[in-house]
Amino acid sequence: MNAPIQKPKADHTAPLTDMWYFACPSSDVKPGKMIRKIMLDRPVLLGRTSQGVAFAMRDVCPHRAAPLSSGRIIEDGAAPTVQCPYHGWQMQTKDGVCAKIPALTGTSNFPVEKMRTPSYPINEEKGTLWVYIPEDEKRFDGSPALPAPTLPTAVSTRPKMRVTVPTEGPYDEAVIGLVDPAHTPFVHQQWFWRTPGDAQEKVKNYEPCEMGFRMKAHPPSANGRAYKLIGGALTTEIEFRLPGTRLETIRNEKHTILGLTCITPLEAGTSEITQMFFWDMPLLSVLRPITYPLMKTFLGQDGKILREQNENIARYRPTMMYVEEPDELAKWYLKLKREWLTARGDERSFENPITEATLHWKT
Ligand code: FES
Ligand SMILES: [Fe+2]
Repeated sequence: MNAPIQKPKADHTAPLTDMWYFACPSSDVKPGKMIRKIMLDRPVLLGRTSQGVAFAMRDVCPHRAAPLSSGRIIEDGAAPTVQCPYHGWQMQTKDGVCAKIPALTGTSNFPVEKMRTPSYPINEEKGTLWVYIPEDEKRFDGSPALPAPTLPTAVSTRPKMRVTVPTEGPYDEAVIGLVDPAHTPFVHQQWFWRTPGDAQEKVKNYEPCEMGFRMKAHPPSANGRAYKLIGGALTTEIEFRLPGTRLETIRNEKHTILGLTCITPLEAGTSEITQMFFWDMPLLSVLRPITYPLMKTFLGQDGKILREQNENIARYRPTMMYVEEPDELAKWYLKLKREWLTARGDERSFENPITEATLHWKT
């Protein structure tokens, strides 16, 4: 009798695959240009044709491994291709299939079209680029396991402010930093936000949402000073979505501000935190020279504590504790992640394990 086929054990600490990841703001990839970015420890070429169509493929030439991103985009009437800088093989931007091997003579029967570099589905949404990273890029059939993420409409068509901060450490810890309420008064001590002495008891209502959970719309905390700048009868709603996206929607009677924060895994053990703001409020554009440095400081504080934490994690492998309600959202994240891995392993659809709940903490 044949032994049952053993499924490889999923690594629960690695960033999830078969997922859309935020790659960068659209403005990082200019028309006619390519950039190289390591995502989930894979070399990814992000490019854009002169017509503005974005594309993504593995940044390794199938011939002899030169980085395709150092080549150029060719748009000579046929389907646009990327030309490798080494021997000039041309890979179609739409699917990574090789269209030309310039050194072959007309008598060659070599199956050029069988050569390809894996290409990644890419989606452009309100000035942000998202790339789908399949579990197995060689066997991937080109159709993502889930639809590309969307952002709420009726704000600005692209981010009006953006900060990216590199960090180190386990991907999960970086993501947990997005949903962790208890760090705020300690890590982000500054006049425009709050201090530990201001701490108040909070009661927050949560519900499940697509790929995550949402803190229902509510008036912002009285000790969140930054909100006062916006004025009016404010509400804020905070959503978390797998793999590592936090979306805060702040509204008053007239305006909407959207804060989008994404954790992108880069080389193993490193990631970057990108925060972007969208708004339809002219005052905020005027205030940008003041708010931009504050935003940089704020995000820099997150990057710094994660790097410091990682010095201990990497060296001494301590056990992490998730304690009571202040750490409940961290537990939810880990639960969501486990469910995604189990659902993929069992070849069934993802079932959100989060249920409505009210949580309490002091921040
Ligand atoms: S390495 Fe790319 S064409 Fe040879
Ligand atoms: Fe933070």
